[in-house]
Amino acid sequence: MLIRNEKVDKMKVEEIRKDFPILTKREKPLIYLDNAATTLKPRQVISAINEYYQEYTANVHRAIYKISQKATEAYEDAREKIAKFINAQKTSEIIFTKGTTEAINLVAYGLKWEAGDEIITTIMEHHSNIVPWQIIQRKFGIKIKYVGLEDNYKLDLNQLEKYLTEKTRLVAVTHVSNMLGTINPIREITEIAHKIGALVLVDAAQSTPHMLVDVKELGCDFLAFSGHKMLGPTGIGVLYIRDGIEDYLDPPFGGGEMIKKVTLGGCTWNDMPWRFEPGTPNIAGAIGLAAAIDYLSNLEKGELKKHEENLVKLTINQLEKISEKIEIYGSKNIDERCGIVSFNIEGIDSHDVALLLDELSNIAVRSGLHCTEPLHRFLGIKSSVRASFYIYNTEEEVNMLCNTLREIMKTFA
Ligand code: ALA
Repeated sequence: MLIRNEKVDKMKVEEIRKDFPILTKREKPLIYLDNAATTLKPRQVISAINEYYQEYTANVHRAIYKISQKATEAYEDAREKIAKFINAQKTSEIIFTKGTTEAINLVAYGLKWEAGDEIITTIMEHHSNIVPWQIIQRKFGIKIKYVGLEDNYKLDLNQLEKYLTEKTRLVAVTHVSNMLGTINPIREITEIAHKIGALVLVDAAQSTPHMLVDVKELGCDFLAFSGHKMLGPTGIGVLYIRDGIEDYLDPPFGGGEMIKKVTLGGCTWNDMPWRFEPGTPNIAGAIGLAAAIDYLSNLEKGELKKHEENLVKLTINQLEKISEKIEIYGSKNIDERCGIVSFNIEGIDSHDVALLLDELSNIAVRSGLHCTEPLHRFLGIKSSVRASFYIYNTEEEVNMLCNTLREIMKTFA
């Protein structure tokens, strides 16, 4: 097991790789560079989920027999771990959801909107931080404003300041772009938005897995992220709701668990956090996510980020050397970006590049729009190829990626 504070050096990466069953195949090993879409799962996470299903499957919060108590304890322990992981003030600020998308939708459907309210988001967002607001726009007649980018692929904060009015209810912004890898200055954005009383929602799907995310430091009101992008299972995610603002929302979904008292005339809401968790939750998912957090907690996040930065730097350097026909998107300043490199090769469709990388070298990358159509339009491109890294990726894999790209370019020349 890895020791906190130790460097994630080459040897350590080799040790980490042994924990991932999918990486242990000898023949034509998988080179997995689609970590922004989802990450691989270590055996510790798989075992924690298996253990729940094999040894104490029971519902939570409902029964007094032993295995139900054990399941409830494991589920609520997971919540506590998550609270610590993002430095929340209280465990009751942590709501389990299906993932980032459901978490953002919960805020969209939960906030008590009035016609004329305004939302500010950005053109850098994943569709899951655009479409929910467009649905709310149709339903309640609110207005959406989109902040653009300035040089070096950074958000235009002057535009944000100009867009803020006393009608702005919410600023919804991504912490890290899933296409550019840009890290946005959330603390600064929160300070600007709070000055005029707007709430701030942070899409942390691409930051929580890779860097230290401290909700107190960020000062945000809502923060959403997914378990499956940080070694956990799919179908589990988190919405952080800052203590004291829960009454700004009505629960958008009703059912068991989220109520205190029900009569035929009406009902009263349960306490936080259960108020926003109707029905049987994803118990195995929460337990798996807790195991993922345990795994990540044994790594030093600063070193983890440095490891990814090295891989990004190496990828960009090599791509630049291959050919001028390769256009790379995102900041040139490595400190301003997370482990994502999106690019295009002139004259070759992004899906062809991805297909050939898979065919020739078993390399998995994403191609297309990456759920960021407005950003692609802004950049004037139809699609892109995206390589995204995580704790188990190596320099050898980057070399393999670049050598295979060279081969592909020769085929198309
Ligand atoms: N949001 C995921 C991605 O960026 C699916 O690929």
